[in-house]
Amino acid sequence: MNLHRSIECNIHVEFKHRVFFTSQLFLQSNPILRKILVDKDERLHQLLVIVDEAVTKTNPSLVVSITQYFQKSSSNIKLVAPPILLPGGEAEKSNYSRVKELYSLIQEYGLCRHSYILGIGGGALLDLIGFAAATAHRGIRHIRVPTTTLSQGDASVGIKNSVNLFGKKNFIGTFAPPFAVINDSEFLRTLPRRYKRSGYSEAVKVALIRDASFFEYIEQQADHLHDCDDAVIQQVIRRCAELHVQHISTSGDPYELGSARPLDFGHWSAHKLEQLSSFRITHGEAVAFGIALDTMYSAKKGWLTEKDADRVLQLLSRLGFPLFYEEALIQDQTGSPEILNGLKEFREHLGGKLTITQLKGIGKGFEVHDMDAQLLMTTLEALRTYSQKIFVPA
Ligand SMILES: NC(=O)c1ccc[n+]([C@@H]2O[C@H](COP(=O)([O-])OP(=O)(O)OC[C@H]3O[C@@H](n4cnc5c(N)ncnc54)[C@H](O)[C@@H]3O)[C@@H](O)[C@H]2O)c1
Ligand SMILES: [Zn+2]
Repeated sequence: MNLHRSIECNIHVEFKHRVFFTSQLFLQSNPILRKILVDKDERLHQLLVIVDEAVTKTNPSLVVSITQYFQKSSSNIKLVAPPILLPGGEAEKSNYSRVKELYSLIQEYGLCRHSYILGIGGGALLDLIGFAAATAHRGIRHIRVPTTTLSQGDASVGIKNSVNLFGKKNFIGTFAPPFAVINDSEFLRTLPRRYKRSGYSEAVKVALIRDASFFEYIEQQADHLHDCDDAVIQQVIRRCAELHVQHISTSGDPYELGSARPLDFGHWSAHKLEQLSSFRITHGEAVAFGIALDTMYSAKKGWLTEKDADRVLQLLSRLGFPLFYEEALIQDQTGSPEILNGLKEFREHLGGKLTITQLKGIGKGFEVHDMDAQLLMTTLEALRTYSQKIFVPA
């Protein structure tokens, strides 16, 4: 036998990715969660529920409803403890001790790979819970119940999780498909306006790279979205989630092993801006800035018409997004804008060749492998001037 002969085989792992849409998930008469949790083997499964503190503040009866839901309705599900409350938001996603706290709970309650961790909250907390669930015991079943516009349309319908480290976004994390995602429209009612609107930028993003008719829909509904009309928000979340899931399931690269990352259009500068603002600027707001910058850059390069670029910037403003932040002018040691270092960090995070999505039309993203630093600086200045002239409704 040749002992130096290598062993090689292909391993295929298939999984079902499910995003449910409902309202009032913990009403006794709502069967969705019960159906998701029922396992054919009928053994007892443990369940730990973690809730974003902000959600319980605005929904004071939530904890009781969750407890009652499981007391009354489940034979093979054991809620191991009353729902655990944790603070949400980006600062917590940057606080690694929260991950350890979750590991301690998993250990204390003896959760195993057949147990469930159900997280309810904004994208930041769900990213953190998802990371802890994916890594403890190499993976515990994880159910996500996102409670913000952004997380229902984008952050939580994907298969990634992460926490921030070294001040860098998503420095640690895994690709781990959740057991299920459940979007409950009722949670959005209590969301402050700023966070309701914050998620619109991800919808504009995915429309710009994939779906011109969705972009037109957002344009037509911009005033209603600005006023946070619930029915329109639901339509936008639905289409946004659909487009994200479609990409994950059909792009051929769900684990992002290649260099392309079209769903991160506008994100190279957005992530850096969040960091430069010490997370004062929300992810959604930073993405709106990032979209505006890359849109203007695409126009300056001649890939996109000035008219289309103007449509994009006007839409972002009508939705209530500022197009520029002074943090974007912070300089690095060499005297150039620190924000441009976002390009290097973006490539470093993904590996491979620098690959940035740009626009050659509304609904038409394409990839470039080189960004002109001088032109980016001019674009940054031009965006600043543009933003001073444009009216952003309050
Ligand atoms: N994993 C992914 O693929 C992915 C994709 C996009 C974005 N993200 C991440 O998602 C995060 C942003 O998520 P977000 O926009 O949901 O922000 P967030 O999680 O920071 O939530 C915003 C604020 O609203 C509070 N909150 C949440 N739900 C509420 C409710 N119903 N009522 C009242 N308050 C509520 C939170 O406690 C927080 O203070 C970022 O960290 C971003 O990087 C992840
Ligand atoms: Zn994003």
